[in-house]
Amino acid sequence: MSPKVNLKIDGKVVQAEAGSPLLQASLDAGIEIPHFCYHPGIGVEGSCRLCLVDIKGMPKMQTSCTVPVKEGLDVNTQSDAVKKARKGVLEFFLLHHPLDCPFCDKGGECPLQNFTLDSGQFASRFEFQKTHRPKHQIIGDHIILDKERCILCNRCVRFSRDFTGREELQIRNRGAGSEIFVPENAQLTNGFTGNLADICPVGALTAREFRFKARPWEMKTVDTVCGECSLGCSAQVWRKEDKIFRMTPRIEPAVNEWWLCDRGRFSLDPLVGGERLQQPLIPGNGSAPQTVEETARLLAQEIRRVPEGSLAWIVDSSVTNEEFYQVKSLAKAALNGRVFAPVSRGGIEIWETLRKSSVRADFPASLDRAPTVLILGERLENDHPVLVLRLRRQVHFHRTQMVTIGGENMGFDDIEAGHLTAEGERLERVFHALDRIEKGETVPAKNKAEEIVWPILSTDQPLFVFLSEHVLSDPNIAAVKKWLSSAAQRSPRRISVALLLSASNAHGMLDQWSDRVRPFSDLEEEIQRGKVQGLLWMGRTPSTPIFDEYARGMRLFGQWVTRSGEAHPEAKWILPLDTFYEKRGTYTNTFGRVQRLRRSTRRIAPGYEPLTFLSALSALLGAATPKEAGAVYEDLAQDLTGYPKKVTEIPESTRTYAHYERAVWR
Ligand code: SF4
Ligand code: FES
Repeated sequence: MSPKVNLKIDGKVVQAEAGSPLLQASLDAGIEIPHFCYHPGIGVEGSCRLCLVDIKGMPKMQTSCTVPVKEGLDVNTQSDAVKKARKGVLEFFLLHHPLDCPFCDKGGECPLQNFTLDSGQFASRFEFQKTHRPKHQIIGDHIILDKERCILCNRCVRFSRDFTGREELQIRNRGAGSEIFVPENAQLTNGFTGNLADICPVGALTAREFRFKARPWEMKTVDTVCGECSLGCSAQVWRKEDKIFRMTPRIEPAVNEWWLCDRGRFSLDPLVGGERLQQPLIPGNGSAPQTVEETARLLAQEIRRVPEGSLAWIVDSSVTNEEFYQVKSLAKAALNGRVFAPVSRGGIEIWETLRKSSVRADFPASLDRAPTVLILGERLENDHPVLVLRLRRQVHFHRTQMVTIGGENMGFDDIEAGHLTAEGERLERVFHALDRIEKGETVPAKNKAEEIVWPILSTDQPLFVFLSEHVLSDPNIAAVKKWLSSAAQRSPRRISVALLLSASNAHGMLDQWSDRVRPFSDLEEEIQRGKVQGLLWMGRTPSTPIFDEYARGMRLFGQWVTRSGEAHPEAKWILPLDTFYEKRGTYTNTFGRVQRLRRSTRRIAPGYEPLTFLSALSALLGAATPKEAGAVYEDLAQDLTGYPKKVTEIPESTRTYAHYERAVWR
């Protein structure tokens, strides 16, 4: 980070990082400078010419996005000359822009609309026929292109080229013939297309899912986190009355920066749409219980019939820290039960090793410092998608060297400095080689790929490693531990390792791990050995032959699901389960960051949300636990390091891109 310097903008003394764009310094200080092509997440382009300012000592107006901040700059963003020039630039933008604001989906959050209104120029002097271009062209699963609204700011082109690695959007032709285009019959295939609707400053790129559903001023927003993977991206959910219409990112430098992946952003429909289970179903029991209290009483009776020590509670990846705490308390109180969590044995061991090790990564600070990054064992686009955008940015703008080891296609072919294909048993050899490198030994290369990869990883410069839980199979664990131990001994600052856990809240569950909790993989074995006679399952059941065979013989089999069709055919008790859009609580992401989850819409089955229902059940089984998420959080956070003691003390970002821009426009 460069040192801070002092400058003056419109007479106000402002501090900003030397070398950063003057436009950004001004926006950070709350001083409006209209702009289109600059985006803090994508960088400087300098093509729209709207961000003009006067700078003392410079003979002509400057584009503020291209001027680096330095000590003593004296900037005027509001001189008559600047206002006149901006007005002229805007007039050119509007020459061919269609007058369809009343039905454009960007209405109410469109910078072009806002700047035009601010400039006070409402009449057009253009007397000729406007150029018309194709409208509402479907260019991907989630995006529609309206070519004639495009103002050629190039943000989408740069995002698709520099961040997704696929040059799917381009600008073709020159001068008045310039237009945004996607090659004939081609569609956007990258997994981040929803961001295009956020960054396009006009209504040229809009989200199919949101089109014509609601206006921004009609909706309320809720700050929450996405629960689709263990990154836990900061998000904002937009709802009108009880219906959720869209999810957009909050700016969170320590997690998702400016972005969301399509999987998270568009998870909405499958989660909250369709036939949701609103009442408990008790197959074979005639009628369902009428009240929540009655359901809890009947289920408590059933639980007491299960032999001591043979009740298994199973939680899926979406369980919150608070729900996990409740389940553990209940398991302890009722029949000495056990909890099975979706974390692998390897994940548990390496998480434990890293917890005590000096090589545990401090994310994102140690990633930002590292000139070399190793991705071990995972195609990030599938399991931790938004990390792809961060890493591609680092490679493009900071010249970070990237090495991947794992399957044939890790998704970085175009930018990686080296790749080793190594899966299954071959990975053990890789871990031994990494261990030798940490001991300062030279590893002989056995093929061309190794000739490239081993020297890069032997650097004395800081190295950041993303280690996927997928590669932590039993035979590898000893080799991984040996490597981590050598790395810690050689130089604690050289190597930083971040474990990428698979389940959304796996880190939170590991933080609360105890003798009572087991990895999910132990369940089958325990069932086979007859140690499980009752199952209470929160979430969808992965179907396995062993499980299907033994499920019928269980004395008790209850399952919480969002839709009845998701329950196992042998489940006798089927209870409604909230999605992460309806829950309150906290998730801890794979880097150990505790984050707040807020309820974004009404409860589908009042009284059956897990915390309330588990609290009612625990009262009947002699383990009184609070039902409010905040109170449960305070209980569980008491003994956990890194967890603020009150839920209101959890740090979180309140900024979104729209808020960021609107804050400086209005
Ligand atoms: Fe800019 Fe939108 Fe046009 Fe892309 S489609 S160049 S983001 S105005
Ligand atoms: Fe500065 Fe476009 S924002 S030229």
